[in-house]
Amino acid sequence: MITITFLVLFLCFKSSTFLSFINKYGSAACNKLLDFLPLQKELIFLVVYHKFLVRKIMNKKKILLSLVVLLVVIQFFQIDKTTPAIIETETFEHIATPPPAVATALHNACYDCHSYETKHPWYNYVAPVSWWIKGHFTNGRKAMNFSTWGQESLEDQKHLLHECAEEIEEGHMPPKGYVRMHANADLDEATQAALIAWLNQASK
Ligand code: HEC
Repeated sequence: MITITFLVLFLCFKSSTFLSFINKYGSAACNKLLDFLPLQKELIFLVVYHKFLVRKIMNKKKILLSLVVLLVVIQFFQIDKTTPAIIETETFEHIATPPPAVATALHNACYDCHSYETKHPWYNYVAPVSWWIKGHFTNGRKAMNFSTWGQESLEDQKHLLHECAEEIEEGHMPPKGYVRMHANADLDEATQAALIAWLNQASK
């Protein structure tokens, strides 16, 4: 029974029919809610899992076992790590020509989330951690993408550089949790000051 349920769920998710079913028959409000949930598919999966499996199995050993099975099964849902090809002439470095120290600092502290040059550590291959991290670089790229810098108007480019200076100054970017996991994103004060000075100057 468990195996069959998993198999059905797996097939549903692979072809996303399950989600499109919900989208089709769910109310408008439900769709809105789904838009706001970065882990929509995964959450639905967990809810369904809980409803149909955990509730039915009272035995602790079986719950543990099914959790292990769940952990194994979710590894089939790898995040999409592919990116569009980077066009050299559209990159921030090509357009804004920052000095090497600035470019390096931004590369170390920002590019994993704000460019198509994301480096994937081993845990980006392990669900559900990878699902959570995916949100960072998808939303980060949406807010600002150094790889497609040329697609912004000159005005927006300047505005973004100003925002960058502000975010760094206020200690919001790079996010603290990220810095804890990435030592080279932990910019020292001198590097930060130089970065902020250049960003402010370039945003004028
Ligand atoms: C761990 C991923 C991550 C890293 C690393 C990161 N950012 Fe972000 N950044 C985000 C996300 C996600 C958003 C969009 C959501 C938000 O505003 O929190 C964002 C938003 C921004 C914005 C837009 C803010 C706004 O008001 O729209 C700026 C500017 C920014 N980041 C600058 C930087 C700079 C500069 C660095 C490096 C020093 C950096 N970020 C590093 C994830 C990251």
